[in-house]
Amino acid sequence: MYRNSNFAAIDVGSTKVCTLVGELTPAEGMRIVGVGIAPTVGMNKGVVDNIQQATESILSSVEKAERSSGTRIVSARVSISGGHIGSMINRAVVAIPGRTRPIGPEDVARVLEAAAAVSIPSDRQVLHVIPRYFVVDGQEHVSDPVGMYGQRLDVETLIVTGAVSAIQNLTKCVEGAGVQVEELVLSSFASAEAVLEDEEKRQGVVLADVGGGTTDVSVFADGSVLHAAVLQVSGFHLTHDLVAGLRAPFAAVEEAKTLYAHAIPSTVDSEELVEIDTFGSDRRKSVSRRRLAEITQARLEEMLEMVYMDIRRIGFDDTLAAGLVLTGGTANLPGLDTLAEQVLRMPARIGVPHGLSGLSDILANPAYATGVGLLHWVLRDHEPDRRRVREKAPGSAWEWLRTIGRWFKFLLPQ
Ligand SMILES: Nc1ncnc2c1ncn2[C@@H]1O[C@H](COP(=O)(O)OP(=O)(O)OP(=O)(O)O)[C@@H](O)[C@H]1O
Ligand SMILES: [Mg+2]
Repeated sequence: MYRNSNFAAIDVGSTKVCTLVGELTPAEGMRIVGVGIAPTVGMNKGVVDNIQQATESILSSVEKAERSSGTRIVSARVSISGGHIGSMINRAVVAIPGRTRPIGPEDVARVLEAAAAVSIPSDRQVLHVIPRYFVVDGQEHVSDPVGMYGQRLDVETLIVTGAVSAIQNLTKCVEGAGVQVEELVLSSFASAEAVLEDEEKRQGVVLADVGGGTTDVSVFADGSVLHAAVLQVSGFHLTHDLVAGLRAPFAAVEEAKTLYAHAIPSTVDSEELVEIDTFGSDRRKSVSRRRLAEITQARLEEMLEMVYMDIRRIGFDDTLAAGLVLTGGTANLPGLDTLAEQVLRMPARIGVPHGLSGLSDILANPAYATGVGLLHWVLRDHEPDRRRVREKAPGSAWEWLRTIGRWFKFLLPQ
């Protein structure tokens, strides 16, 4: 039986689908009670390229999570990524009628609706409308205007959009696996929930989730998100470079990469050799581990430069005091944080998902940041439930705002 306090999350990655079942409990908050991981077929660079294969991959992951949790998954939060994702800042303003009453939730809804009514092509759809801050009669950076007096309410929002076709294809695959999509959540927003500290978000930080098909970038400052982008470079490209450099089959190189690659070649013994299967008559040969690291380093430097160019484009290179947090499967590469600090000259660390109980050892790996983050995202949306469970006093209007923010995609003309 699927209970009301159970929530499911499906991270549909380019290399693996990760389905998690979380249970909201009074004592522990969100506790992970089921995990199902299956290799992905039918996805390329973060988007579906074979409906049937992608559906089967999702189904396999969902069935594993159902068996592991002893529940049936009927609906889930689902991650979305791919080169079609775009983001923009949009501001809006509304007048507050009547001087005698304070600003109410309906005024906030109006201003958010105005911000969401941005003109976008008919083949694109709004995925998120995230209020960054409000301005009340010129008073900047108001986090919650409800209850304040003022005649003019401004909001600055980050609007995330995606291609309608990519969204429909992903939805079709998840539904084909027998699961309703409750909400599509941008992968990097989910990962941010699982790996970033509040202080990093306040002081300015860029998150890069370097996966197997994409690198998902998001930038936070003053406690809220101000940019999101998806770069089409990832661990897959790294493996491809090694295939060309070592002249060996993809699977053998992928294994060698995860076992022996390093981001800093000088730390690897120049004499050390590793055995791998290769093309040609020899079939198996010894290759220098230093050489493996040199090829790895070259591609990683290019990836890091791309992340840097993306944040420079929006003018946020020097102002991000907390630097760069790297997550995603490729962040398992030893030395990646050190290389990032050398190349970008900013602090860098590896982000491992945290914050939920019942997290088995296998999930304490950067590759599962998005999946774990999707369950954190559930907590944001279900703050009233959590409050009831924990018998806390009602909080700010923010949780409510996040929820109505999601509705705007339905209000917009397609
Ligand atoms: N120890 C390791 N060293 C180097 N690379 C690794 C290691 N472990 C995993 N990877 C790489 O991580 C990548 C998979 O990462 P991840 O699971 O985050 O991707 P994904 O979520 O399936 O895909 P995406 O998010 O890009 O759509 C693969 O390219 C894999 O080779
Ligand atoms: Mg991923």
